[in-house]
Amino acid sequence: MTSAEVVVNGQAVPLSGVPIHTTLLDLVRDQGFTGCKEGCAEGECGACSVLVARPGIAAATEWVALNACLVPAAAFAGQEVVTAEGLGEPAALHPVQYEMAVRGGSQCGYCTPGFVCSMAAEYYRPDRAPGVASPERGGNGFDLHALSGNLCRCTGYRPIRDAAYALGAPDEGDRFAARCTAPAPAAGPADVVVEDRRFVRPTALGDAVRLLAEHPDAVPVAGSTDWGVEVNLRGRRADFVIAIDRLPELRDLTVADDVIEIGAALTLTEIERRLDGRVPLLDDLFPQFASRLIRNGATIGGNLGTGSPIGDTPPVLLALDATVVLTGVDGDREVALADYFTGYRRSVRQPGELIRSVGIPLPLAPITAFHKIAKRRFDDISSVAVAFALDVVDGVVRAARIGLGGIAATPVRARDTEAALVDRPWTSDTVDAAAAVLGAEGTPLDDHRASARYRAAMLGQSLLKLFAETAQEVSA
Ligand code: FES
Ligand code: FES
Repeated sequence: MTSAEVVVNGQAVPLSGVPIHTTLLDLVRDQGFTGCKEGCAEGECGACSVLVARPGIAAATEWVALNACLVPAAAFAGQEVVTAEGLGEPAALHPVQYEMAVRGGSQCGYCTPGFVCSMAAEYYRPDRAPGVASPERGGNGFDLHALSGNLCRCTGYRPIRDAAYALGAPDEGDRFAARCTAPAPAAGPADVVVEDRRFVRPTALGDAVRLLAEHPDAVPVAGSTDWGVEVNLRGRRADFVIAIDRLPELRDLTVADDVIEIGAALTLTEIERRLDGRVPLLDDLFPQFASRLIRNGATIGGNLGTGSPIGDTPPVLLALDATVVLTGVDGDREVALADYFTGYRRSVRQPGELIRSVGIPLPLAPITAFHKIAKRRFDDISSVAVAFALDVVDGVVRAARIGLGGIAATPVRARDTEAALVDRPWTSDTVDAAAAVLGAEGTPLDDHRASARYRAAMLGQSLLKLFAETAQEVSA
């Protein structure tokens, strides 16, 4: 394999001549692997799910499921991709395919190859621990949230769940399990020019920021979970795309005594697994951030870089008092996240700069919570989102940070509410008064997702809910 090819189900597919906005989905379908489907083209249905061999956390290589509809094919130069056709065939079904078939997990079949790929990624997760008793996970360690980005319109989810819970450990001779013991393909350089449009994957941060300085209109992409939607649904095109998701300088996670530094190109899934419960507020956030398929691609830097007022990480990171390190040809600079956003999808990040890392100061506040108010519990966009980080000592609020999303042109800190809490007793009187202040913070939108009045009401309610959930624990 060369870096100008992607291996799909064991076959090398040349990328030369493939337009840079061609998605991985279109590429694999052009190769005849039409089990991979387009349902929504925006990362919501999972019909396009495929497996990619990526450097692992619990093994040298792990199979990661991604939405192929969102990612440019060029981003997979030198990579290994597997579709449902590559897992097994009618005469020799893969265990996941077999269980889906015998337990009635498929009717029309449109969603099935996507489910199979998401299920296979979880089947091979090296820390799934199938032998360990885990009644909440079907007794086989299978995390059903691995399927949270896959929608089925006709079968119903119970037979699909039955198939997932019936899976044991991979057999000794399983070739996909064996693949996990050898290193994943290196994310080598790529430079694809087609129809005067260029897609570049530099291998060092210095090269990436130099390119960005020379081409300030270039679009930096990581997981493409936002850019892919722009390309597919809004017809956006770029003359120059720079892939930054595999830059080693953006993929560190370190825990020191006073700060946790998270590389901007780490995905939400990688951060969740690497932190392993160290930041409870992030653990509240992760399951509510889109779906596993999206979290496998979306990066923390990307979620801040888009500057969306309804991104899920900013309220949480504001409550955690996070900082952001920006990097460019002139070096690094650190800004408080509270000073980062300047307007609707705008920030202090200058053209030519990238987000290098996010810093979370330690120690963490003892009382934290993330309330995402949305129409669906999972895989949805918030109407409003509220993150709390409080320090209550001897029944008195000593410190309070509250991050809000969906109530202004940018994510914001609820400064007035914080002031209404600090140095006051953590009692229902204080909380009632502060909830009224919180309900009046920002300028909530009136749109199809929620009315401004509803959003304001939900803000106040979220503080009352936090108090109801924590008052006992504080007084104990
Ligand atoms: Fe729906 Fe990709 S086609 S998530
Ligand atoms: Fe028809 Fe799932 S089997 S959509």
